[in-house]
Amino acid sequence: MKSNRRNFLRSAAAAGLALGAPHLGARPTVASQPSTDRAPKSLKLLILGGTRFLGPALVEAAQARGHELTLFHRGKSNPGIFPEVEHVIGDRDPVVGAGLTGLKDRKWDAVLDTSSYFPRMTQAAVDLLKDSVGQYLLISSISVYPSLEKKGLVEGDPVGEYEGEIKEEITNTSYGPLKVLCERAAENTMPGRVANVRPGLIVGPRDSTDRFSYWPLRVRAGGEVLAPGNPTDPVQWVDARDLANFCIRCVEQKTVGEFNIAGPRHPADIAELVYGCKAVTGGDAKFTWVEAEFLAELGLQPWGHLPVWAPGKGEVAGINTVNCQKAIDAGFETRPLAETVRDLLEWRDGWKNGGTAPSRSGMSLDDEKAALAKWHQRG
Ligand SMILES: NC(=O)c1ccc[n+]([C@@H]2O[C@H](COP(=O)([O-])OP(=O)(O)OC[C@H]3O[C@@H](n4cnc5c(N)ncnc54)[C@H](OP(=O)(O)O)[C@@H]3O)[C@@H](O)[C@H]2O)c1
Repeated sequence: MKSNRRNFLRSAAAAGLALGAPHLGARPTVASQPSTDRAPKSLKLLILGGTRFLGPALVEAAQARGHELTLFHRGKSNPGIFPEVEHVIGDRDPVVGAGLTGLKDRKWDAVLDTSSYFPRMTQAAVDLLKDSVGQYLLISSISVYPSLEKKGLVEGDPVGEYEGEIKEEITNTSYGPLKVLCERAAENTMPGRVANVRPGLIVGPRDSTDRFSYWPLRVRAGGEVLAPGNPTDPVQWVDARDLANFCIRCVEQKTVGEFNIAGPRHPADIAELVYGCKAVTGGDAKFTWVEAEFLAELGLQPWGHLPVWAPGKGEVAGINTVNCQKAIDAGFETRPLAETVRDLLEWRDGWKNGGTAPSRSGMSLDDEKAALAKWHQRG
């Protein structure tokens, strides 16, 4: 593979891997998820965040288990969500307004932090909360691993180190190393009481990025669908509700350490994803598999024009093969793809100002048509 193409693939995949960098846009509410059994003991839980995408899934998972919640946020995202829950309004940046002081002199069994992006702010939170919470669960990311090539990344693999003076700016390259520093700020201040949970692509209802949703939406639209690479190329996704259930289980059982949460319990591939979408949506979608090399020649990026997918071999082969066995051993359960696709489409169809819009991610229908025409005309 030529080095310019290699760089292209790496930077495209890295951009996709900067998973969970904050996204703009309204996050509407959805109906509560089905409840599970109640926990033997009700816990007092604090969420630093809780009102956009993963946060609401955490709230619903905690409510289903009978826990008592406090949400801390600025009151900007989805104001009015969860009126039955205590909200403490404030900024987690200690130099903005009263900062975190609304949380002083309170006690919780555990805190779940969905909004740590910069170590200075994580440090401020753990400094304030270390004596008033039993456990700190921080939502990190698999972007902590700089390697896009290694297959089966495990928690002990090297993480990315931030180089130079810290800038509070999220880019494709800074997001992972900043998360590493957030993880360390928590663990160094509350040793042995921290769970650093490293998700891959989080999907499901309330995901306004459309990265995963490209496939259900495109397949539902039908006709000839460009399917990328080899049908057996691996893909990973995690339903926010499964991730939330795992996090709540961690705080109930005081589970600590690092956990990769990137994909379904079984190894999945792009064929499962696209045919699975068709099984849910019906319609007349027909898949034309276009080789990864040909896509690269056309400038069509893995994770960019073709969300979720990356070639199963070469420089970015590892990004969809993260090893989640440690989380599985700690109780991580995953729901069927069909359930995620069904609920996601139902939510998106009802999404105010968004439901009828085309996918925000992936290539346009015109670009797809042009790429398919070139594929059919190749020598
Ligand atoms: N999406 C992915 O695929 C993915 C993948 C890997 C990791 N992640 C990680 O998953 C986490 C999930 O994020 P989410 O947005 O879904 O979580 P969320 O808890 O649903 O929403 C973020 C919350 O943080 C609050 N917030 C933001 N800035 C704040 C500040 N300065 N002070 C106080 N509160 C603040 C927001 O409310 P206000 O705006 O009202 O303050 C909101 O309640 C992130 O840490 C992300 O890095 C995501």
